[in-house]
Amino acid sequence: MLAQLLHRNGIDSVIVENRSREYVIDRVRAGVLEQGTVDLLIAMGVGAGVQQSGLRHDGLYLSFQGQRHHINLTSLTGGRVITVYGQNEVVRDLIDARVATSRPLYFECEQVSVHDVEASPTIRFRHGGDDHEIACDFIAGCDGFHGICRPAIPESELTIYERTYPFAWLGILAEAAPSSTELVYTRHDRGFALFSMRSPRITRLYLQVPPDDSIDHWSDDAIWDEMLTRMRTDDGWQPAIGRIIQKSITPMRSFVAAPMQYRQLFLAGDAAHIVPPTGAKGLNLAASDVLVLARSLKSYYETGSRDHLDRYSDVCLRRVWKAQRFSWWMTSLLHRFPDELPFDHQRQLADLDYVTSSCAAMTSLAEQYVGLPQEVSHESVGL
Ligand code: DHB
Repeated sequence: MLAQLLHRNGIDSVIVENRSREYVIDRVRAGVLEQGTVDLLIAMGVGAGVQQSGLRHDGLYLSFQGQRHHINLTSLTGGRVITVYGQNEVVRDLIDARVATSRPLYFECEQVSVHDVEASPTIRFRHGGDDHEIACDFIAGCDGFHGICRPAIPESELTIYERTYPFAWLGILAEAAPSSTELVYTRHDRGFALFSMRSPRITRLYLQVPPDDSIDHWSDDAIWDEMLTRMRTDDGWQPAIGRIIQKSITPMRSFVAAPMQYRQLFLAGDAAHIVPPTGAKGLNLAASDVLVLARSLKSYYETGSRDHLDRYSDVCLRRVWKAQRFSWWMTSLLHRFPDELPFDHQRQLADLDYVTSSCAAMTSLAEQYVGLPQEVSHESVGL
C-alpha cells in the first residue's frame, strides 16, 4: 500500500519480501475493513476487488446469556459501514497493482539485513541466487512483529509497552453459508467465540482457548461442539456447520514500540504495534500508518523539509493508542479471564448490559468499530 501511494506521487521504492507470493496470498488473516480503509483502497485505484466481493455490514451483534443484541453501526455513525474482505485479498489486489507498475517487488528474499539507518541506509538480501544491495534515502519497516527493522533501532531509543493475555484464539474457515449476515461477538461462561465470514459460502469462526493450546488437540468434531455450545442462542440461532478447510491458533498481545521512527528508518503496522484481534483493528491501523508515512515522504520530497517526517510517529501514535485502548476493552468485555473474581464476572455482564442498552455507549462502540477519522486526508497524498 505504501509503495503504491508513493508511486502515485512519483517516489520510487523497492519491495523486499521474504515469503513467496503464494504464501502471502493464501495465508488467511483478518477480514474487517474500516470505512476509511475501503475509501483509501478505492481512491488509490485498488478498490475493484473490495467493491465487487466485499460484504458490506451495517451492524453487528453482541451475544451473552443466550441473547443476541444488535448494534446498528450505520445509524449510530451517520452512515458509516464496515466491509468484510480478507486481508489476503487486499494483499493480492495490491500485488496486482504493483506488478502493473513494473516497479521492483522481490518475493522469497533471504538473508535480508538493513544497515546505516542513521544516515545513508542500505538493504542487503539474496534473491534467486544473487546478492543484492540497495542504497536508499529511507527504509520503511513494514515487516511485521517478527521483522528485522525494529531490532535495527538501538534499544535505548525505544520504549516498549506490552501486555499479554491469558488466552489465544483458535480460528477456522468452514465451507458453510454464513447463518447470519452480520458478525456475532459472543461472551459465554466457557469463553469468547466469534462468528464471521469471508464470502456467501465461507464461514469464519473463532474460539477463546488456553494460550499454550495446540491445534493438534482439537478434532473437527470437538471444534464444532465447542463453537455451537458457546454461540447457540435461546432463539435457536447457531452457525451453520460445514467442512473445516483451515484451522490455526493465534496468540494475543498488545504491544507498542515508541517512537515508530529512528533517523532514516520508519516502522509501520505490526513492526511497531500489535493489537489483540477483538475489534479487528490491526490491518486498519497499518493502512493509516502508511497513509501518514506517504504524506510525510511526499512533503519531504516536495519541500525538502523534514517537518512532517519528524512528526510521523507522534501523528500515528495518537491513533494507535486509541485503537490499543479499544482492542483491549473489546477483549476484556468478551473473554473469560482465568483469575476472574465473581465481582469481575458481574461487572463484565453489567458492562455488556450497558453497551447494549445505552445509546451513548453503543455510539461510542460504533464510532470506534467503523474507525475513528484518519489523521491525514487522502487529498494530502494527491488522491
Ligand atoms: C474477524 C477478525 C476479528 O478479529 C474480528 O474482530 C472480527 C472478524 C475476521 O477474521 O473475520
